[in-house]
Amino acid sequence: MASGARKIVVLGGDGIGPEVTGEAVRVLRAVEGRFGLTLEIREALAGQAAVDAEGVAITEETMALCRESDAILFGAVGGGAASRPDVPNQPMYALFRLRKDLELFANLRPVRPLPALAGASSIKRAVLRGVDLLVVRELTGGIYYGQPSAITEGEGGASAVDTMAYTEAEIERILRYAFELARGRRKQLTSVDKANVLSCSLLWRRVADRVAKDYPDVTLRHMLVDACSMALIRQPSEFDVVVTENMFGDILTDEASMLAGSLGMLPSASLGTRRTASGQFGLYEPIHGTAPDIAGQGKANPLAAILSAAMLLRHSLGRERAARAVERAVQRAVAAGYRTADIAGVGGASGTVVTTREMGEQVAKLVAGEG
Ligand code: IPM
Ligand code: MG
Repeated sequence: MASGARKIVVLGGDGIGPEVTGEAVRVLRAVEGRFGLTLEIREALAGQAAVDAEGVAITEETMALCRESDAILFGAVGGGAASRPDVPNQPMYALFRLRKDLELFANLRPVRPLPALAGASSIKRAVLRGVDLLVVRELTGGIYYGQPSAITEGEGGASAVDTMAYTEAEIERILRYAFELARGRRKQLTSVDKANVLSCSLLWRRVADRVAKDYPDVTLRHMLVDACSMALIRQPSEFDVVVTENMFGDILTDEASMLAGSLGMLPSASLGTRRTASGQFGLYEPIHGTAPDIAGQGKANPLAAILSAAMLLRHSLGRERAARAVERAVQRAVAAGYRTADIAGVGGASGTVVTTREMGEQVAKLVAGEG
């Protein structure tokens, strides 16, 4: 490999994961040719696929490979038995391990609906106008990782417990991240919590108010999560950057995906503090899951994975121009009427329904022709 090659590990995972990351890789290959970039792309197993072939959801070898890379492109994991993801033979363990061990605490989920897809959204066109928001989700704390978490069988019936826990330091680092991002955008930060009920949220609010003093140019407002879930579809254009804890961010971003028309349109970047040669180390994944009902049928929308690859180019490789070219190619493919089934609109009224691969090929072709 030529020196200066950037190392990317692709973990397709389960279900539609490998199909969509395959198309994202196709687009990255087009970027290489167009923008004079050399990528060393290695594939490895994760999730149920790794459990079946290697006995655990992610092996130590794969973890090491990921640590040595500039970035990870992740598909989706799932399947098998439903249980806590802290058991190594549960598919979800791969994702939880990567996020936690690689300290990827800041999950960026931008929501920028494409005008051509307004018809695919269940929200009125006028409400979607001007929507450009970024959710910053805390990714390595809260109820996802808190202990105890268990089901206990008792004589009077079973009981269960989960624990939401945050340290001040964990809250502060994600808030600073969000303030910095807001500073580079429209300078409006909405911090979302449930401070009328939860201790974690009371601490969150206290830290947010303290950190805000270091960012006098950014306007901070607090919003309760229930009110936020309403405001997100009532007046989404009012939001710039939204920062929130792990589970609230998970829920709010599935809701926000409807602004973009489909879960299949939303990319994400999970970042920490580690630097690469020309950016930040990160893990990039579509926010959707494995969609077992459509897996292997060429029906999945690869655009969220492709847009995640664009974020990879931007954040981990420092290639803003290439990132924009990919985003523009996605816009153009959609504007030209290319549609996977999920964005075909009510009754499939608009555009030509294409397969996962045809969509990927179209975007790659447009990238290759980009200037
Ligand atoms: C997400 C997903 C995951 C999460 C699941 C698959 C564990 O929903 O990335 O949004 O809840 O974090
Ligand atoms: Mg989710």
